[in-house]
Amino acid sequence: MAMLKGVHQMIKDLRPPILDDLGLESAIKWVLEKHIGERGIRYAFETTGTSEELKARARSPVDFARLELVLFRIAQEGIINISKHADAGNVEVSMAFGESAIDMEIRDDGKGFDAESIYGAFRKDHHVGLGLIGMGERISLLDGTLTVRSEPGRGTRISAHVPVPA
Ligand SMILES: Nc1ncnc2c1ncn2[C@@H]1O[C@H](COP(=O)(O)OP(=O)(O)OP(=O)(O)O)[C@@H](O)[C@H]1O
Ligand SMILES: [Mg+2]
Repeated sequence: MAMLKGVHQMIKDLRPPILDDLGLESAIKWVLEKHIGERGIRYAFETTGTSEELKARARSPVDFARLELVLFRIAQEGIINISKHADAGNVEVSMAFGESAIDMEIRDDGKGFDAESIYGAFRKDHHVGLGLIGMGERISLLDGTLTVRSEPGRGTRISAHVPVPA
């Protein structure tokens, strides 16, 4: 079990080359196309500002790179969750690169779930898997927040907010 945890931690810490090759926005779009578009599910991807602009203003390039990785992992997990669990017809991802923060939202119109009971139970068991719980912990280390809103029958909305010190 300890070893399994170690391997999971390593997978989470690895920086996928696609992130540096394509940049954050295109890397997320690639995940959308691969897991959603290729399955015949409609998706929209919308951005305001760019990660490049914000990176140029960021106080610490190293911190910015960590933050990009966490946002990429959240998007990847959220999108793969949609492909595995949601049975959605439409997926929307939006990213806003503001003056001093990044906001990202991942929405689906699928079957939804009882987020309170599932994530509440995981937290009580100290379950830190590759799922969104671990992502929430990692974004909070960067002073960010992760909110998962879902209700059975009403789709799911994941919101991430993370400050970028200029
Ligand atoms: N977009 C979604 N639509 C419907 N149900 C979802 C969605 N995202 C998550 N869920 C539900 O929440 C549960 C927990 O998700 P989580 O990502 O933590 O674990 P998992 O996807 O089952 O496993 P892992 O991510 O470790 O492979 C899922 O099993 C599923 O029941
Ligand atoms: Mg998952």
